Amino acid sequence: MPDKYFDFIIHGGDYNPDQWIKTKEIWDEDMRLMKLSHVNSATIGIFSWAILEPEEGVYNFGWLDEIMDKAAENGISVILATPSGARPAWMAKKYPEVLRVEESGIRNEYGVRHNHCLTSPIYREKVRNINRKLAERYKNHPALKMWHISNEYSGECHCPLCQQAFRDWIKEYYHNSLDELNDKWWNGFWAHQIDSWDEISSPKFRGENHVSALKLCWKRFVTDSHISFLENEIAPLREITPDIPVTTNMMRMYDGINYQKMAEHLDIISWDNYPAWGTGDYGYVSSETAFVHDTFRSMKEGKPFFMMESTPSIVNWFDINKIPAPGTQTLGAVQAVAYGADSVQYFQWRKARGGHEKYHGAVVDHCGHENNRVFREITKTGEVLEKLGKVTGGRSEAKAAIICDWENIWATKYFCGYNNKHRDYEKECVKWYAPFHKRGITADVISLDADFDKYDVIVAPFLYMLKNDTEEKIIRFVEKGGRFVTTYLFGCVDTDDRCYLGGFPANRLKDVFGVYCEETDSIPESFDRKATYKGKEYSVNHICDVIHTTGAKVLGEYKTDFYAGEPSVTVNDYGKGKAYYVAFRNDGELADDICRDIIGEADIRTDVNFEIPTELTVRKRGDYIFIMNFSDSDKEIVLDKKYKDVLSDSEISGAITIKSLGYSVIE
Ligand code: GLA
Ligand code: ZN
Repeated sequence: MPDKYFDFIIHGGDYNPDQWIKTKEIWDEDMRLMKLSHVNSATIGIFSWAILEPEEGVYNFGWLDEIMDKAAENGISVILATPSGARPAWMAKKYPEVLRVEESGIRNEYGVRHNHCLTSPIYREKVRNINRKLAERYKNHPALKMWHISNEYSGECHCPLCQQAFRDWIKEYYHNSLDELNDKWWNGFWAHQIDSWDEISSPKFRGENHVSALKLCWKRFVTDSHISFLENEIAPLREITPDIPVTTNMMRMYDGINYQKMAEHLDIISWDNYPAWGTGDYGYVSSETAFVHDTFRSMKEGKPFFMMESTPSIVNWFDINKIPAPGTQTLGAVQAVAYGADSVQYFQWRKARGGHEKYHGAVVDHCGHENNRVFREITKTGEVLEKLGKVTGGRSEAKAAIICDWENIWATKYFCGYNNKHRDYEKECVKWYAPFHKRGITADVISLDADFDKYDVIVAPFLYMLKNDTEEKIIRFVEKGGRFVTTYLFGCVDTDDRCYLGGFPANRLKDVFGVYCEETDSIPESFDRKATYKGKEYSVNHICDVIHTTGAKVLGEYKTDFYAGEPSVTVNDYGKGKAYYVAFRNDGELADDICRDIIGEADIRTDVNFEIPTELTVRKRGDYIFIMNFSDSDKEIVLDKKYKDVLSDSEISGAITIKSLGYSVIE
């Protein structure tokens, strides 16, 4: 599949014409309003199964034919969904096995959505069947441009079918050897030896929930179940429409599915972006959002992704749904494109009259017309996006990477010990990403399976669990001249959450970093503990390793507690590279100060040749440089030479002002 499917940025969103089937004049009005707001795409049919197949084997495609034709006539690209996210009531009544069994062991009743068993052969067959019908019917339709598989896959099922599938999965994972399983799970502890595969079941509150290796296996199994469910959905589409790309919309850092693994099965990565602008902390939220964009961009080695959903204004599911400052929406759209999105899409095009999401923001409000602020802002966004079409397909080159590994998202939550309250793995990753983001340096966000060799600097915060080849990969990376930065609780366990013997970090990593960890301390929030880096003092927050150097150079030391005077930050020359150990967590400036120095030493250049003032973010994608201001005041930036201002199609140079919540795109 190519890097680029469109020569323009897809602008649109979830569209539910089936909810308005009794007032079809609204469909024509939708077409008018889409064109007016520079919307060029609609995602249709996400939750339409009950209207597509009102009775088992009885199909009703008439309305969809009509809408597909209207879309084609009006130049609207359709992203057609498969409807597996919510099933018709008749199906649940006739085949109760399609409904999900929660951890309690009780089968859910019909209701809500995403409420299906992932294993049920009947459900899989029904899904394959409806998907085949859709593909056959629309395979040659000019409006069909992409498949949107299901919707936000999530959750897990604990039914007997899933239990059996889990046992089969485990049996294969441990090579059909109970001995291996008992050893890897360290089942001698609390008399947990297993004598037969049928003694295994999913982790549960009222059952086994203290074996972290079981919990890891369950997450891996749930991931694989989703993947095989996805493959089952895709099979008829691939067969009938081999040239139409498939995607499924993912949810930020959702920990229920290893997205880094699922990504391999998709042509295009897409994700639903709902930043918490309502907190008012635009600086943090914009950098966290950039981090998530880069996480998804990195899943297919930098290939552009889709921002499949975002809100035109507010959502309805925060406790308090504050309207973001006017301009935030357009700036958020520009940010998505800057960070690699080839689409800006919304949930939702038109507000529903009833149902759970009727107060969720939409391009078209209940008023039904274009005379409101949100519609105007979306129109503005559409105009901007139309001028940025040239960027589609464009990539950003990264010399730096942050490791944020989905399996570590799980592993760092499951072990019991040290600071059980403050783990925050993903937040730690955002923290170490921010210094690159702030300096206009493109950083990839990668898993442990990624290729390390193409980077100059890799930062791996709180890299607690290692995969079989991680040690070798780190050694090779540093030997060849890379700079590898890690922090506390590094290299403690293998993929079964079994501790490495011989001290932390694992095996030869002690030589690479020139340190070993003697003890790990946890710091209550009311305690004032300090450590230094290059003479500057920082708070020790929540956790720290007491380390012992065996060759590393000391860059800082603890100032308090019985380990005062012991090293807190070290660097070791190893091969042609350097290995940094940051032994304590600091929630202030430490990450920024260390990264600043490493960026300087490694001579990683920013994406641009001009100075980036604090509070402005800059990102280069293809030939375009995006300058964004997420702060609440106007900021000046001085360009190094003449550029073309892409949005006004004029020349600019020298000092320019980027308004608060403003942006500029130059070439
Ligand atoms: C998710 C879903 C949508 C909708 C939005 C609301 O992203 O995919 O169907 O529920 O949330 O924000
Ligand atoms: Zn099930």
